[in-house]
Amino acid sequence: MRRVTLTQFLIEQQRAGRVSADLRLLLEVVARACKAIGVNVSKGALAGVLGEAGTDNVQGEAQKKLDVIANEILLQANEWGGHLAAMASEEVETVHQIPFDFPKGGYLLMFDPLDGSSNIDINVTVGTIFSVLRNPEGEGDPTEESFMQPGSEQVAAGYAIYGPSTQLVLTVGKGVHAFTLDREMGSFVYTTPYMTVPEETREYAINASNARHWEAPVQRYIAELQEGKAGPRGVDFNMRWVASMVADVHRVLTRGGIFMYPLDEKCRAQGGKLRLMYEANPMAMLIEQAGGAATTGRERILDIKPSKLHQRVPVVLGSKSEVERVTAYHLEA
Ligand code: AHG
Ligand code: MN
Ligand code: MN
Ligand code: MN
Repeated sequence: MRRVTLTQFLIEQQRAGRVSADLRLLLEVVARACKAIGVNVSKGALAGVLGEAGTDNVQGEAQKKLDVIANEILLQANEWGGHLAAMASEEVETVHQIPFDFPKGGYLLMFDPLDGSSNIDINVTVGTIFSVLRNPEGEGDPTEESFMQPGSEQVAAGYAIYGPSTQLVLTVGKGVHAFTLDREMGSFVYTTPYMTVPEETREYAINASNARHWEAPVQRYIAELQEGKAGPRGVDFNMRWVASMVADVHRVLTRGGIFMYPLDEKCRAQGGKLRLMYEANPMAMLIEQAGGAATTGRERILDIKPSKLHQRVPVVLGSKSEVERVTAYHLEA
């Protein structure tokens, strides 16, 4: 069988007119940065990369050393290539401008450099999430306003998952494609074309310790799942929660399911727990491209017009029929 690498895949996408030369370079650079992050993640205690960095980010979270390292790797890798107008990161408060001595390009890159930070120190799967927008035409450096585009405007989105194997999962607007890192060769190999989220599922993912804080529609939905065969659904559901969004969404993309981080009393004031620009939007694009659905419980995530870089939103995504049910429960409440 012909072995196709990410590089070949991207060249073919360019030939098909789906990605520009600059977007291809961008995705190559992001993939290379993810390889470097993966190396650091896998060294763990040997490289002294575990534990706290001793600083807080703009979200008020204590940064882990790997949050900081992964952020630096992505910023440095992407600064000099000439494909970007600016970047934004979970770990950086404002827009990261391209240093003046490098050429600038037409794309905006957003990322969650290290997703699932609470799992770093216990040697459980973490990831990197990224989203790409076009920089709107205009003069001068991009501003926060330049990034305020709905997720439906994303030209590419994806994540790297650092698990038992390292994978890159990518969409450029035509299906979702998975690549597995061949560590000896140092290249991502195309292993799963056109991932699809099965329409029906018997598996859900939610942090159930927040149950008492959820809104009524979510309490109703989860209670019905937990009643199993005896309840209104008439079947038993299984539950999984890794607490790394990348791992939980990867499971949904691989074998179906529903993933939820809904609004609750703890995160209501902030609008939700997960971040729109570099968590919810890229994952929503991937899930929709794979035939699933993604809403806040009330509206389609990709339709939201952002109002700030670190905006948070409730997230309900995965198998279409389940997401539609949860959304209907919210809308009839
Ligand atoms: P991050 O590590 O990038 O800050 O993201 C953490 C997020 C997400 O990965 C996960 O779904 C969620 O936080 C887990 O939240 P709980 O700790 O409440 O389970
Ligand atoms: Mn964080
Ligand atoms: Mn995250
Ligand atoms: Mn993170």
